[in-house]
Amino acid sequence: MSPRHRPWEEAADFQIGLRPIAPDDWLEGGEADPAARKDALLAAHRGLVWAEKPDSRAGQAEVLELVEAALGPAPRPADLPPLPNLPPLYAAARRVADDLCLMEKHDDQWRLTALSLSAGSFFTAEEVIGRSLAELHGPVTGFADRFLVRVQRIFEGLRPELVLERRNWTLLNSAELHTPSSAPIRARIGEIETAQAGAVLQLRVERQTLRRLPVTGGALFTIRVWLASLSDLADQPERLAAFARAWRGATPQLRAYKRFDLYDDLVEGFLARSLPA
Ligand code: HEM
Repeated sequence: MSPRHRPWEEAADFQIGLRPIAPDDWLEGGEADPAARKDALLAAHRGLVWAEKPDSRAGQAEVLELVEAALGPAPRPADLPPLPNLPPLYAAARRVADDLCLMEKHDDQWRLTALSLSAGSFFTAEEVIGRSLAELHGPVTGFADRFLVRVQRIFEGLRPELVLERRNWTLLNSAELHTPSSAPIRARIGEIETAQAGAVLQLRVERQTLRRLPVTGGALFTIRVWLASLSDLADQPERLAAFARAWRGATPQLRAYKRFDLYDDLVEGFLARSLPA
């Protein structure tokens, strides 16, 4: 089965890649019970998956309104007790498969003022709360020189009716959505048997959206993670060839940032076995 998003087919380097989508396509849905997944993580690892600034509740409430406008009010069976007083952004996040990040302008900088992050890719809520766009992207090679000013302008210029989408991808030996840290995952690479590489290695796509909060003036950034094993491509020669081109053609900066070097032998072995002669 072909992965839903295949951003590797589109660019070999970091890119902004934001494009407008129909507002009705904002949330992709498709997860039966995101609240169960997110509540379990909140109970076990609160600081990794949730953080808020004290003055962010008005923006959070506007996010909840947007989500309810898109999905309708939360159904609550009469026989269940009422939910405790949840922060509004978390109440919104329980309704959707996506992670929700509230960005607001303080001291002339767009800053992360609240987030529900249940599928973080090597970062945690407590680390990033309060960070500006520049600080969030400090680890991204070349971001300050190539993208920062343009991304800040996009945040300034967002019109209320506009919904923007971008995707990125990486490859990991983990089928978990919740991956706060790279170390335990990378420590297991040596255990992967060559013949199992296609099943174990996962294409990890983040589908992200950005939109204005018209009343409070903030911006909502959403992140939805989609996983597919490399072997999902194996029965589609064209898709597999496109992935092979992307893997081999990625720029040195992108390869270094995503640590493709750690997976090269496994991926090349998989490709040698799977690509038509
Ligand atoms: C909407 C405009 C944005 C653009 C164009 C953008 C672009 C990027 C790019 C190019 C990367 C490197 C990986 C990739 O290819 O995606 C990245 C990583 C990242 N972005 Fe963004 N980003 C945006 C907004 C945000 C926002 C609002 C947040 C707030 C949560 C955020 C948080 C991060 C983090 C935490 C990373 C990983 C940094 C690390 O390696 O530690 N980004 N972003």
